[in-house]
Amino acid sequence: MTTSGEIDWADLLQQATEAATHAYAPYSDFPVGAAGLTDDGRIVIGCNVENASYGLGLCAECGMVSHLHQSGGGRLVAMVAANPEGDKLAPCGRCRQLLHEAGGGSLLVDTESGARPLRELLVDAFGPEDLDARKV
Ligand code: THU
Repeated sequence: MTTSGEIDWADLLQQATEAATHAYAPYSDFPVGAAGLTDDGRIVIGCNVENASYGLGLCAECGMVSHLHQSGGGRLVAMVAANPEGDKLAPCGRCRQLLHEAGGGSLLVDTESGARPLRELLVDAFGPEDLDARKV
């Protein structure tokens, strides 16, 4: 975050791009990095980690959310995923749900079409409050 409290999107993209260089993606050959800004100003990062049992691969966003909790918790307020060339990538559907738990609908996700609140990318999301409201 800048001193004025604005989100430094260029720095976030740079951190995601750098994180992507650490990906373990020998099966897809599609390295991904993710970087997020927390509500107390920390940067958390992750990279995708694949597995010989293909379906067990972990997206970069999974590592980033693990880093969020490992480094003190809190909420994500902004994030971006990118390849090692610095191209922004759209989080997959499963990761949108993961991001919703960690940042909610107001989490800003940088995309090729600009920074968008997660509620636009995951419409009518199912979340923790639904468990309380709908439990039988
Ligand atoms: N991948 C991510 O890490 N994040 C996404 O949101 C999209 C996909 C990874 C999963 C897999 O290791 C590779 O990219 C190809 O799908």
